[in-house]
Amino acid sequence: MESSCDETAIAIVRNGREQLANAIASQIDTHALYGGVVPEIASRMHVEAIDPLLDAALAEAHMTLDNIDAVAVTYGPGLVGALLTGVSWAKALAYAAGLPLVPVNHIEGHVSANYVAHPDLRPPFVCLVASGGHSHILNVTRYGEYALIGQTTDDAAGEAFDKVARVLDIPYPGGPLLDRLADEGDDHAYTFPHPHTQGKYDFSFSGLKTAVINQAHHLRQQGVAIDAKNFAASFRRSVVDMLVEKTLLAARDTGAKQLAVAGGVAANSLLRRELRRRGEARGLRVFIPPVNLCTDNAVMIGAAGYYRLMAGELASLRLNAVPALRMIEAQAD
Ligand code: KG4
Ligand code: ZN
Repeated sequence: MESSCDETAIAIVRNGREQLANAIASQIDTHALYGGVVPEIASRMHVEAIDPLLDAALAEAHMTLDNIDAVAVTYGPGLVGALLTGVSWAKALAYAAGLPLVPVNHIEGHVSANYVAHPDLRPPFVCLVASGGHSHILNVTRYGEYALIGQTTDDAAGEAFDKVARVLDIPYPGGPLLDRLADEGDDHAYTFPHPHTQGKYDFSFSGLKTAVINQAHHLRQQGVAIDAKNFAASFRRSVVDMLVEKTLLAARDTGAKQLAVAGGVAANSLLRRELRRRGEARGLRVFIPPVNLCTDNAVMIGAAGYYRLMAGELASLRLNAVPALRMIEAQAD
């Protein structure tokens, strides 16, 4: 069960590797009216969507609750009200059906989408996780064990996509639409700064985002028309180059042989192309989940939950939502 932001999702997963059902209710159309996610609306829409989604997932898998062995639920990070609807619902289901309850970190979920997409992928591997709220480079040493190699020092990559999209008058959610626009543009048309970071494997998107937004305002003030396609393409190129460079550096320095990517930004077409091309050129095996397993879904939560369940890491019915849950605390649980 996943409800950390604006997607309500219920999936059924077998042995952490096989997707039997993948039911999702997206709230994007509603939040688009406001230009971003409205937390209170998100919580209420989760409540409305959950029960029908369980029925849909069971029907898709041709199953009843009797066939289910455990309930895995995202308990953080995310919007507190949104998380609470899912956590409360999952606790009720686990209690009523007499099933173990497995708490899952949303970011670990994103990483675990790769286990379903690539049944032959086994740790160790380096994983770039880039979503709307997080950007990390992780070394996945064993199932459920992570070392943080690098992270953003300010904004997440997806956040930068969404904010620059707004300046280009691209409606919410900006990332995917900016990506499509960029496909038709020239990525050399505009020059943006290449932000410097202290940490060798860290990212910084805030400086780039501000420079890009300032340049747009400046051009407009001078009455110069912005070519949105070229602007989008140049910005996308800057973000992707930074993500790919740091990830490949991390892979090289850790001696990794396998590289995976996860999170909503992993749906970006240029990032997918470049990571594969440049990763394989360095002899890495590169794993990229299909787009629908990169953006929020519950299949990834089921996959992560399986390995937590196997490790005996269950939650009691006192489980609470943890909006600021961190990736590294998750392994120490
Ligand atoms: O992982 P996700 O679905 O939700 C969070 O956990 O945050 O990621 C959503 C983020 C948004 O910022 C969205 O704009 C971005 O992923 N995103 C993309 C693309 N598809 C989604 N960014 C760039 N290109 C895309 N194709
Ligand atoms: Zn996510």
